[in-house]
Amino acid sequence: MSTPVSHNPHGLFISFEGIDGAGKSSHVEALAEAFRATGREVVLTREPGGTPLAEKLRALVLNDAMDPLAEALLLFAARRDHIGQVIVPALDRGAVVLCDRFTDASFAYQGGGRGFDWQVLSTLEQWVQQRCWPEADFVLNPALTLWFDLDPAVAAARLAGARVPDRFEAQPAAFFERVAAGYQRRLQADPLRFARIAADQPLEAVRRDVLAAVTGRGWLP
Ligand code: TYD
Repeated sequence: MSTPVSHNPHGLFISFEGIDGAGKSSHVEALAEAFRATGREVVLTREPGGTPLAEKLRALVLNDAMDPLAEALLLFAARRDHIGQVIVPALDRGAVVLCDRFTDASFAYQGGGRGFDWQVLSTLEQWVQQRCWPEADFVLNPALTLWFDLDPAVAAARLAGARVPDRFEAQPAAFFERVAAGYQRRLQADPLRFARIAADQPLEAVRRDVLAAVTGRGWLP
């Protein structure tokens, strides 16, 4: 098995991760604007979702009861479609792809939160993200993952009463403790790919740290 590598031959692939309520989504658009200001094409997308098929699968996964294997398979099926239809074509054009959640969410939520088999998730990751490029076989992975790290109790307080919770948001605090531990485990396995963003700071400070993670890698002036 090949190891997933953070190799984006032409474009740039960045994912945003964190538990529900960590506040990542509001920073996706700000980073997009910073890239657009340099003249780059930016593709904003999300998981589960990002294509008509994957958005249908999203609605099922967020709302319909199912067992953990069915949940993992639907999430990776959605991801397969999203990669083939949107992410790889955009990277091939040289675009910046900003994705609100990607495979780390499957390890954190299904692996950590639900306790689903980590090794099976690794196998699915290999199958779904494998691509034969002209020059090499490799497994598509973000070049950078911005992990919005927030105490699950603070995240829960932020979410309380905000909207009707989906199947994940409705989980108890202990679930989100396990999700956060799942993200931590992914970070430890691939520390160079991750930038940990302290999400308990004021909005402006979080925004500054997001930009610093990207400029520090030389991707923005
Ligand atoms: P989220 O980004 O929180 O969407 P929104 O902000 O619109 O609610 O994603 C929806 C949920 O899907 C979130 O609770 C995490 C969950 N999820 C998984 O469980 N596994 C995955 O692989 C992905 C991508 C998301």
